[in-house]
Amino acid sequence: MKVLVVGGGGREHTLVWKIAQSPRVEQIYCAPGNIGIKNLANCVNLSVDDIKGLADFAETNSIDLTIVGPEAPLVAGIVDEFEKRGLGIFGPSKAAAQIEGSKVFSKELMKKYKIPTAAYRVFDRFEDAITYINTAVVPLVVKAEGLAAGKGVIIVKDRDTAKAAVKDIMIDKAFGASGARIVIEEYLEGPEVTVLAFCDGKIAVPMVSSRDHKPIFDGNKGPNTGGMGAVSPASAYSSELAEVVEKNIIQRTIDAMASEGIPFKGILYTGLMLTKTGPKVLEYNCRFGDPETQVVIPRLKTDLIDIIEAVINDNLIHTKIEWKDETAVCVVMASGGYPGPYEIDKPINGFDEAEKKEAVVFHAGTAAKNDKIVTAGGRVLGITALGKDIQDARQKAYEAVSKINFDGMHYRKDIGLL
Ligand code: AMP
Ligand code: GLY
Repeated sequence: MKVLVVGGGGREHTLVWKIAQSPRVEQIYCAPGNIGIKNLANCVNLSVDDIKGLADFAETNSIDLTIVGPEAPLVAGIVDEFEKRGLGIFGPSKAAAQIEGSKVFSKELMKKYKIPTAAYRVFDRFEDAITYINTAVVPLVVKAEGLAAGKGVIIVKDRDTAKAAVKDIMIDKAFGASGARIVIEEYLEGPEVTVLAFCDGKIAVPMVSSRDHKPIFDGNKGPNTGGMGAVSPASAYSSELAEVVEKNIIQRTIDAMASEGIPFKGILYTGLMLTKTGPKVLEYNCRFGDPETQVVIPRLKTDLIDIIEAVINDNLIHTKIEWKDETAVCVVMASGGYPGPYEIDKPINGFDEAEKKEAVVFHAGTAAKNDKIVTAGGRVLGITALGKDIQDARQKAYEAVSKINFDGMHYRKDIGLL
């Protein structure tokens, strides 16, 4: 079988790494891929937004299955285009991808089907949002409705900052058209957990839990990033909680989408806050998480291609999915200055030494220059290790991290400790 993976970050490197282990796969392509992925797949110079180009490529090269990493092409309708041409693809339709593409859609869905989430209001007029804030209880969370590359959520501690955030989004259009409507919601507190689930439109099969570490500095200090590391399982997520979440949140969401006539097929990412009054949904994504994938997929024993085929054929119910009973830790190594401005083109040393350790090095922002691997993005690498417990996994991951160096590198020392 020939497989095309769309994307070029740490998440896609992990997917390619897993797919390369499938005896059923002869050839992997990745668009655009990265230097690490190049060792396992043919990288194709097409951007993730070039839906027509990707479909033409899949047609010309007789690709049997395309797997999409990032949200933008899913929300733009890549699955509909491939299906129209009779090409095999894994992911939600454009209509189903609204669950991530429109926060108003997802909040209304949760309200209608009684899925626990933060209380909220929707505004499409600046003046109405300001009037509401004048009497609202703070802290509050202000969210642009549409996609904003992970930056569209602003937590505000007082009313003036809330008004400034609304002005930024609605008047100064910090996120363009994505901010034409906003959601203002109740601030929730508690440990955060991510649960990814395979969904075939009818049933959801949750994967093992994970936890992202979004802030740049140790102790969850500093600005939010795309994710500085992850751990699986999430320690706060007990089997009792898992049962409640699976029934009252994840399966209920899949049932709700089916009732709305837009069955959800693909990966449903549920971001949860474990509050004192029970688990509540922070957000849905219509895809694998990054960096959560770097800790979840290495624990998967079953062939990923078998599961994906079962999703496409509406046959998830008959598919056995097995996981390693181990703990996984992923430490992200970032460029100095990230998530603010940073320099690139810094040579990276120590790959051979790091790969000799019991860890896998996933590439995110890397490039080749003069026969050297250099930095090419904010998040550069993700180092994942499995261990018998959190201490063991952390020790293995950080030992590999210590072998790698590049000018200005920054990583958190406390991944898995929170
Ligand atoms: P998102 O960009 O939707 O992934 O949200 C980014 C982060 O904002 C989440 O991971 C949470 O840490 C935080 N967040 C979102 N909604 C809320 C909320 N209602 N209360 C507290 N924190 C939130
Ligand atoms: N780790 C957050 C995300 O993938 O959106």
